[in-house]
Amino acid sequence: MFTWSDDFSVQIPIIDEQHKKLFEIGNNIYYLYNHFQYDELTTHIKDLLGELERYTKYHFRTEEDLMIRFHYPDISEHIKEHRKFIDYLDSIDLYENTYDQAEYILGLLQFISSWIFKHINYSDFKYSDFLVKAIEQEGNL
Ligand code: FEO
Repeated sequence: MFTWSDDFSVQIPIIDEQHKKLFEIGNNIYYLYNHFQYDELTTHIKDLLGELERYTKYHFRTEEDLMIRFHYPDISEHIKEHRKFIDYLDSIDLYENTYDQAEYILGLLQFISSWIFKHINYSDFKYSDFLVKAIEQEGNL
């Protein structure tokens, strides 16, 4: 489960709101995994993974626009991580493993949740101080 707490805050409200939304989509996927019948699982999870990908792209654009605007020095490294994750989401094929699909989907969910946690806690936290200061100096977003 994805549980938001202030420990995840990067101190930039628009980004925190988007991270909360990503957690919410993640929770919806877990809910489906735990509550739907197997034959319904793939279709619903496919829809939610689509939603996750669309929202993740939107969120990454927001972060990258801020980094460009305020000349964040580690932007290239950060964008590389974003692209890698989008490529991963693009590559998911829920019908790839028909032998033990529930197990396969659980593996995907575990990878996605751990990637999001790690990315926010490490890479997003790295820009936090820099961008918070830059935004304060400019006076607004
Ligand atoms: Fe919040 Fe770099 O993604």
